[in-house]
Amino acid sequence: MEKPYSASCDSNKAPILEVLYRTILPSDRRLLEIGSGTGQHAVYFAPKFPQLEWYPTDLSSNLSGMNLWFKEARIATIQKPTRLDVSKDDFPKLKFDVVFTANTLHIMHWKDCKSFMKLLGHRLREGSRAIFYGPFKYQGEFTSPSNAEFDLSLKAKDPLSGIRSFEDVNNNMIKNGFELIDDYEMPANNRTLVYQRLKFQKS
Ligand SMILES: C[S@@+](CC[C@H](N)C(=O)[O-])C[C@H]1O[C@@H](n2cnc3c(N)ncnc32)[C@H](O)[C@@H]1O
Repeated sequence: MEKPYSASCDSNKAPILEVLYRTILPSDRRLLEIGSGTGQHAVYFAPKFPQLEWYPTDLSSNLSGMNLWFKEARIATIQKPTRLDVSKDDFPKLKFDVVFTANTLHIMHWKDCKSFMKLLGHRLREGSRAIFYGPFKYQGEFTSPSNAEFDLSLKAKDPLSGIRSFEDVNNNMIKNGFELIDDYEMPANNRTLVYQRLKFQKS
Protein backbone atom coordinates (compact mmCIF):
# COMPACT_ATOMS: atom_id res chain seq x y z
CA MET A 1 0.00 0.00 0.00
CA GLU A 2 1.25 3.46 -0.91
CA LYS A 3 1.22 6.28 1.61
CA PRO A 4 -1.96 8.34 0.98
CA TYR A 5 -1.37 12.00 0.12
CA SER A 6 -3.58 15.06 0.36
CA ALA A 7 -2.44 18.19 -1.48
CA SER A 8 -4.87 20.37 0.49
CA CYS A 9 -3.26 19.26 3.77
CA ASP A 10 0.05 20.51 2.47
CA SER A 11 -1.33 23.90 1.50
CA ASN A 12 -3.48 24.52 4.59
CA LYS A 13 -1.13 23.20 7.29
CA ALA A 14 0.90 26.42 7.79
CA PRO A 15 -2.11 28.76 8.22
CA ILE A 16 -3.85 26.23 10.49
CA LEU A 17 -0.69 25.98 12.59
CA GLU A 18 -0.89 29.75 13.25
CA VAL A 19 -4.38 29.23 14.70
CA LEU A 20 -3.23 26.25 16.76
CA TYR A 21 -0.39 28.35 18.22
CA ARG A 22 -3.00 30.88 19.39
CA THR A 23 -5.41 28.27 20.72
CA ILE A 24 -3.39 25.45 22.29
CA LEU A 25 -2.12 26.30 25.77
CA PRO A 26 1.17 25.20 27.35
CA SER A 27 -0.92 23.41 30.01
CA ASP A 28 -2.85 21.33 27.45
CA ARG A 29 -1.97 17.65 27.58
CA ARG A 30 -4.21 15.74 25.14
CA LEU A 31 -5.63 16.56 21.72
CA LEU A 32 -8.17 14.37 19.96
CA GLU A 33 -8.29 14.67 16.17
CA ILE A 34 -11.48 13.61 14.40
CA GLY A 35 -11.31 12.51 10.75
CA SER A 36 -7.49 12.54 10.58
CA GLY A 37 -7.59 11.42 6.93
CA THR A 38 -4.10 10.75 5.61
CA GLY A 39 -2.48 11.62 8.96
CA GLN A 40 -0.43 14.43 7.39
CA HIS A 41 -1.83 17.08 9.74
CA ALA A 42 -0.89 15.04 12.81
CA VAL A 43 2.65 14.50 11.49
CA TYR A 44 3.09 18.23 10.84
CA PHE A 45 1.38 19.64 13.94
CA ALA A 46 2.24 17.20 16.73
CA PRO A 47 6.00 18.02 16.91
CA LYS A 48 5.14 21.73 17.27
CA PHE A 49 3.37 20.97 20.58
CA PRO A 50 5.70 18.56 22.39
CA GLN A 51 3.70 18.78 25.65
CA LEU A 52 0.65 17.32 23.90
CA GLU A 53 -0.33 13.72 23.23
CA TRP A 54 -1.98 13.68 19.79
CA TYR A 55 -4.80 11.10 19.33
CA PRO A 56 -5.57 10.58 15.61
CA THR A 57 -8.88 8.92 14.71
CA ASP A 58 -11.00 8.22 11.65
CA LEU A 59 -13.28 5.65 10.08
CA SER A 60 -11.49 2.27 10.07
CA SER A 61 -10.86 2.44 6.29
CA ASN A 62 -8.35 5.29 6.82
CA LEU A 63 -6.33 3.90 9.70
CA SER A 64 -3.83 1.77 7.80
CA GLY A 65 -2.97 4.65 5.41
CA MET A 66 -2.26 7.14 8.18
CA ASN A 67 -0.26 4.49 10.01
CA LEU A 68 2.22 4.50 7.12
CA TRP A 69 2.87 8.20 7.78
CA PHE A 70 3.15 7.63 11.54
CA LYS A 71 5.54 4.69 11.24
CA GLU A 72 7.80 6.72 8.97
CA ALA A 73 7.67 9.93 11.07
CA ARG A 74 8.24 8.14 14.43
CA ILE A 75 6.84 10.99 16.52
CA ALA A 76 6.55 9.75 20.09
CA THR A 77 3.58 11.95 21.02
CA ILE A 78 1.36 10.64 18.19
CA GLN A 79 -0.73 7.86 19.69
CA LYS A 80 -1.91 4.73 17.91
CA PRO A 81 -4.75 5.77 15.57
CA THR A 82 -8.15 4.43 16.52
CA ARG A 83 -11.52 4.04 14.84
CA LEU A 84 -13.90 6.83 15.72
CA ASP A 85 -17.08 7.25 13.73
CA VAL A 86 -18.94 10.16 15.31
CA SER A 87 -22.28 8.60 14.36
CA LYS A 88 -21.72 5.63 16.67
CA ASP A 89 -18.52 5.81 18.74
CA ASP A 90 -17.68 7.63 21.94
CA PHE A 91 -14.35 9.45 22.40
CA PRO A 92 -11.60 7.43 24.09
CA LYS A 93 -12.08 7.43 27.87
CA LEU A 94 -9.54 10.17 28.54
CA LYS A 95 -9.72 13.86 29.38
CA PHE A 96 -9.09 15.90 26.23
CA ASP A 97 -8.10 19.57 26.38
CA VAL A 98 -8.54 20.14 22.64
CA VAL A 99 -10.53 18.47 19.86
CA PHE A 100 -9.37 19.38 16.35
CA THR A 101 -11.03 18.51 13.07
CA ALA A 102 -10.30 19.70 9.52
CA ASN A 103 -12.52 19.47 6.49
CA THR A 104 -14.91 16.98 8.01
CA LEU A 105 -18.22 18.75 8.77
CA HIS A 106 -19.07 19.10 5.05
CA ILE A 107 -18.39 15.38 4.54
CA MET A 108 -20.30 14.07 7.57
CA HIS A 109 -24.06 14.03 7.26
CA TRP A 110 -25.74 16.79 9.24
CA LYS A 111 -27.24 14.33 11.73
CA ASP A 112 -23.69 13.04 12.35
CA CYS A 113 -22.38 16.58 12.76
CA LYS A 114 -25.05 17.04 15.43
CA SER A 115 -24.03 13.76 17.15
CA PHE A 116 -20.42 14.99 17.09
CA MET A 117 -21.32 18.32 18.69
CA LYS A 118 -23.41 16.55 21.34
CA LEU A 119 -20.45 14.29 22.11
CA LEU A 120 -18.21 17.34 22.43
CA GLY A 121 -20.65 18.78 24.95
CA HIS A 122 -20.74 15.53 26.95
CA ARG A 123 -17.04 14.85 26.96
CA LEU A 124 -15.20 18.17 27.12
CA ARG A 125 -14.74 19.94 30.42
CA GLU A 126 -14.87 23.66 31.15
CA GLY A 127 -12.12 25.55 29.31
CA SER A 128 -11.45 22.80 26.75
CA ARG A 129 -11.57 23.88 23.12
CA ALA A 130 -13.01 22.49 19.88
CA ILE A 131 -11.45 23.67 16.61
CA PHE A 132 -13.26 23.26 13.26
CA TYR A 133 -11.38 24.09 10.07
CA GLY A 134 -13.15 24.13 6.70
CA PRO A 135 -15.60 26.02 4.48
CA PHE A 136 -18.83 27.46 5.96
CA LYS A 137 -21.81 29.42 4.67
CA TYR A 138 -22.85 32.61 6.46
CA GLN A 139 -26.47 33.80 6.51
CA GLY A 140 -27.24 31.31 3.74
CA GLU A 141 -24.51 32.65 1.43
CA PHE A 142 -21.37 30.89 0.26
CA THR A 143 -18.26 32.95 0.89
CA SER A 144 -17.10 32.50 -2.75
CA PRO A 145 -18.33 31.14 -6.10
CA SER A 146 -15.76 28.33 -5.79
CA ASN A 147 -17.34 27.23 -2.50
CA ALA A 148 -20.78 27.18 -4.19
CA GLU A 149 -19.33 24.89 -6.88
CA PHE A 150 -17.61 22.76 -4.27
CA ASP A 151 -20.95 22.34 -2.47
CA LEU A 152 -22.59 21.13 -5.69
CA SER A 153 -19.76 18.64 -6.31
CA LEU A 154 -20.06 17.32 -2.75
CA LYS A 155 -23.83 16.86 -3.14
CA ALA A 156 -23.36 15.12 -6.50
CA LYS A 157 -21.28 12.48 -4.70
CA ASP A 158 -23.46 12.31 -1.59
CA PRO A 159 -26.67 14.36 -1.35
CA LEU A 160 -26.42 14.42 2.45
CA SER A 161 -23.01 16.07 2.51
CA GLY A 162 -22.42 19.76 1.80
CA ILE A 163 -20.97 22.97 3.19
CA ARG A 164 -22.53 23.66 6.59
CA SER A 165 -24.12 26.86 7.72
CA PHE A 166 -22.09 28.70 10.35
CA GLU A 167 -25.35 29.63 12.12
CA ASP A 168 -26.47 25.97 12.35
CA VAL A 169 -23.08 24.91 13.71
CA ASN A 170 -22.94 27.83 16.11
CA ASN A 171 -26.48 27.27 17.44
CA ASN A 172 -25.72 23.60 18.02
CA MET A 173 -22.45 24.34 19.77
CA ILE A 174 -24.18 26.90 22.03
CA LYS A 175 -26.90 24.32 22.78
CA ASN A 176 -24.18 21.86 23.77
CA GLY A 177 -22.50 24.23 26.21
CA PHE A 178 -19.88 26.08 24.15
CA GLU A 179 -19.10 29.68 23.29
CA LEU A 180 -17.44 30.81 20.08
CA ILE A 181 -14.14 32.45 21.00
CA ASP A 182 -12.69 32.96 17.50
CA ASP A 183 -13.75 32.77 13.87
CA TYR A 184 -10.63 33.12 11.71
CA GLU A 185 -10.67 33.90 8.03
CA MET A 186 -8.33 31.41 6.34
CA PRO A 187 -6.84 31.18 2.82
CA ALA A 188 -8.88 29.59 0.01
CA ASN A 189 -12.23 30.77 1.45
CA ASN A 190 -12.03 28.61 4.54
CA ARG A 191 -12.58 29.46 8.19
CA THR A 192 -11.41 28.17 11.52
CA LEU A 193 -14.02 28.23 14.28
CA VAL A 194 -12.72 27.97 17.84
CA TYR A 195 -15.14 27.06 20.63
CA GLN A 196 -14.61 26.86 24.37
CA ARG A 197 -16.57 24.63 26.73
CA LEU A 198 -18.44 26.65 29.34
CA LYS A 199 -19.07 25.55 32.92
CA PHE A 200 -21.54 22.67 33.19
CA GLN A 201 -25.00 23.92 34.16
CA LYS A 202 -27.36 21.78 36.22
CA SER A 203 -30.58 21.38 34.23
C1 LIG B 1 -12.11 15.56 3.43
S1 LIG B 1 -11.52 14.38 4.55
C2 LIG B 1 -10.48 15.38 5.59
C3 LIG B 1 -9.34 14.61 6.16
C4 LIG B 1 -8.30 15.44 6.92
N1 LIG B 1 -8.82 15.93 8.16
C5 LIG B 1 -7.80 16.55 6.05
O1 LIG B 1 -7.98 17.72 6.41
O2 LIG B 1 -7.21 16.25 5.02
C6 LIG B 1 -12.93 14.02 5.59
C7 LIG B 1 -12.63 13.00 6.65
O3 LIG B 1 -13.78 12.85 7.48
C8 LIG B 1 -13.90 11.51 7.83
N2 LIG B 1 -15.27 11.19 8.24
C9 LIG B 1 -16.38 11.16 7.47
N3 LIG B 1 -17.45 10.77 8.19
C10 LIG B 1 -17.01 10.59 9.45
C11 LIG B 1 -17.64 10.19 10.66
N4 LIG B 1 -18.95 9.89 10.69
N5 LIG B 1 -16.89 10.11 11.78
C12 LIG B 1 -15.57 10.40 11.75
N6 LIG B 1 -14.91 10.79 10.63
C13 LIG B 1 -15.63 10.87 9.50
C14 LIG B 1 -13.49 10.78 6.54
O4 LIG B 1 -13.19 9.44 6.74
C15 LIG B 1 -12.31 11.63 6.10
O5 LIG B 1 -11.08 11.19 6.63
